[in-house]
Parts: sequence; C-alpha cells; structure tokens
Amino acid sequence: MLDDSKPDVSNVVVRPARAVSGAVRIPGDKSISHRYAMLAAIAEGKSRFQNFSAAQDCASTLGCMHALGSDWERKEDGAIEVQGVGQRLREPAHPLDCGNSGSTMRMLSGILAGQTFSSELFGDESLSRRPMARIMTPLSQMGARIESQEGGRPPLKIHGGPLTAIHYKPEVASAQVKTCVLFAGLLAEGETTVDEPIRTRDHGEVALRAFGAHVERNGNTACIQGGQKLHGIEAHVPGDLSSAAFFLCAAALFRGSALTLPGILMNPTRARLLDILILMGLEITVAQLEEHHGELVGTIEARGGTWRGTTIGGADTAALIDEIPVLAAAAPYTENGMEVRDAKELRVKESDRISAVATNLRKMGAEVEELPDGLRIPGGQQLHGAELESFGDHRIAMAFAVAALRAEGETTIRGADAAGVSFPSFFADLQKIAK
Ligand code: S3P
Repeated sequence: MLDDSKPDVSNVVVRPARAVSGAVRIPGDKSISHRYAMLAAIAEGKSRFQNFSAAQDCASTLGCMHALGSDWERKEDGAIEVQGVGQRLREPAHPLDCGNSGSTMRMLSGILAGQTFSSELFGDESLSRRPMARIMTPLSQMGARIESQEGGRPPLKIHGGPLTAIHYKPEVASAQVKTCVLFAGLLAEGETTVDEPIRTRDHGEVALRAFGAHVERNGNTACIQGGQKLHGIEAHVPGDLSSAAFFLCAAALFRGSALTLPGILMNPTRARLLDILILMGLEITVAQLEEHHGELVGTIEARGGTWRGTTIGGADTAALIDEIPVLAAAAPYTENGMEVRDAKELRVKESDRISAVATNLRKMGAEVEELPDGLRIPGGQQLHGAELESFGDHRIAMAFAVAALRAEGETTIRGADAAGVSFPSFFADLQKIAK
C-alpha cells in the first residue's frame, strides 16, 4: 500500500487499498500533553506521564519549559518525568522556539505574562503567519505588555509582571485562547472568567483541576481564582482522538473494514467526531470506558458500512475543527457529499486548510467548491492518484494519505514528513492496517 523506499523521505507514495483492518495504539493526545507539560513545570514536585504525545509540537513545549528552568527526562519505560519549579520560572537565556506549534505559543504566553521577566517566542514560517492578537488582547488587559510583528504576528516579546483578573469574552471560539487566559488567571490577583461564544475543548480546565486547582464552569463560562498552587501528578495520557480520526475515516471508506483503537480520549468536548461518523454510516462501539484525571478514555471498535454525506456547521465546526481536513478529503467517496460551513478558522491553521483541501481534491480529479468559510463537495465521485502537497501541514499530509487509499492509481504526498508535527508513526501505522 505504501512505498516510502524512495530516497527522499519527505515524499511518501500511497497505493490503493481494498480494506482497513487491525488494531492500532494511538499516541497520547497532543492537546492534553501540551497542558500537562506546562502545568507540570509550574507545579510543585515531580510529575510523571505515560503515553505522553510523540508529536514534534509537544517536544517544542518541553523544550520551552526546559529553557524556563523545568528539567524533564524520558525514562526507560517511555514515561516523561518533569521536575516542577513552582510558578516562578527562570528567565530564559535565549528566545523560545515554538516550532510549528500554535498551542505552545498561545498557551505558554499566558504563563509568561505572569512572570517577572521578559521573554521572546518565535516559530517556523507557518507559525510566523498565524494570528496572535487573540491572546495579546486579553493578556494586555490583565497587565502584561506584548510586542508583535505587524498584524499581531509572531515573534512575540512578552514583558511579564503582576496580573489582574479579567472577565473576558473572546470573539473567536478557541480553546487555546481560553487556556491562555485561564493560565494567566492562575497567576493573577482576583477571579478570572472566560465566557466563550461556543464551548470548546475543556482540557485546560480539566488539567488545572488534575494539578489541584479549583476551576468552576457554568454554561460556557470557566472561572479560576488566582494564587492557587499546583502539585505534580502521575498520569496516563489518553490516545489522541484527532489522530485516531485518520484511521476511522480510512475504515469508513471500505465496507467490512474492522478496526480496534484502544485507550482513546472520549472527552465529550472532543467526541462529537464519533457522533458524526456514526451519522455518516461508520459502525462504532466504545468499550472499557474509564476516567483518568477527569478525562474519559475508551476502546473504539469501528466497522465500515455505508458512507453517507452530511453538513457540518455552527458548534459542530468548532468541535470538529481538527478533523475537518480528513472528513473533507474522504467526502467525495460519500453517497451524497458534504458541506462544511462556519469554518473560517481553518484558513489560519498550520496552512489555509480550506484552500489546501480544495487544491488537493482537484488534483485527484474531484469536483469541489471552495467557500469563504468552508467547502461544498459532491458525493459519488471516483478520484485518481496524483502528486499532492502537504503544504507543510501535518493534517493535510495525513488526510490525503487516507483519500489516496480509495483512489485509482498511486498518490505521492510531497512533504509527508509534516505528519511528525502531531503523529510521527502515522505512515507506519497506516501501512499496518491498510490491506
Ligand atoms: C487546540 C485547540 C484548537 C485546535 C488545536 C489544538 C488546543 O485550536 O485546532 O489543534 O489544544 O486547545 P484553536 O484554539 O485555535 O481553535
């Protein structure tokens, strides 16, 4: 199915498959791993994480926390051990490299805003284009001074200091912004609230509680009292549902496929994906439900059946924001097509994901309409293999490896190594289950 024997490791060739079957162990959730690494650094005592994300993005977070004085090491059993230094971090000797990771830059800014020193955050070419005004506004209101490039782009210079609590109503539905403000709120004087326009993933709130902070939630509002101390924890990071999404969509493309994914994150603010896949015809059962530090985990069994289209908009778009690329890449194979709306945020992710999906689908021969805030993709289409670009975006590389499984002929994905940003073992795992 895959031929990555070519010397250029950044190009991967994907051949059509007839079915998808087997079991895959999915690496730890990226969103949770970032938050655990940051909170472990500002906690008192040691923390230990099993199944910490293998993503390059999370390595960027660990690198930044190390530069800020928190040592960490990988133990023989694969666990990551982080030495907490408490809420006063060390002034870094160099600018902090966030790599490709918007999560690192945005959420860490909340912690840096409350420090007594100045620091600089920078990223790669893609991250340097991403909007940061969304965190600069609330952090400035809390008392930090932040300099950016024109239009609120990175690098950021954060001049930290004493913070005052705010009641903040973000304009965009963003869990990164919410978490950034709650992290700053932990270091501020008074009670900080974030009132979201649409409820986003709540791993920030759940992780803060796991480390011992009291965080309240009322409807779409999360609330934290400043000055609370955190303590280190031992945790097992659930498998990343957004990474599992690629394999679930691959299974959905072939009637009779059978896939088992143990230990996957089932947090209700992320699991809307499963409802949508069921609606589209994938048969899903979840067994062995458990709760770890406030996060639900379960084993997913999926069987391919019919593959119907659907419309994704409003709150669903926010809930599925990271999975839309793969859903859209698989949409031409649905019976009746897919429409994605209210997804302007996709244009300011690691790439312009609306344009990247439309470009690659067209190269595979698909009919697709690009909308300012989404895509309209007719169903019942047969695609052909093509030379595609990842656009340096991990989710685009993986989404089109999935689409390539049902195409006629082989597909080359240029810059496929981008997958390492969230899922380094993706192509090896795909090879195991695609028959
Ligand atoms: C994330 C939130 C989302 C998501 C990103 C991870 C998080 O971004 O797309 O991959 O961990 O909070 P936004 O907050 O920009 O919506």
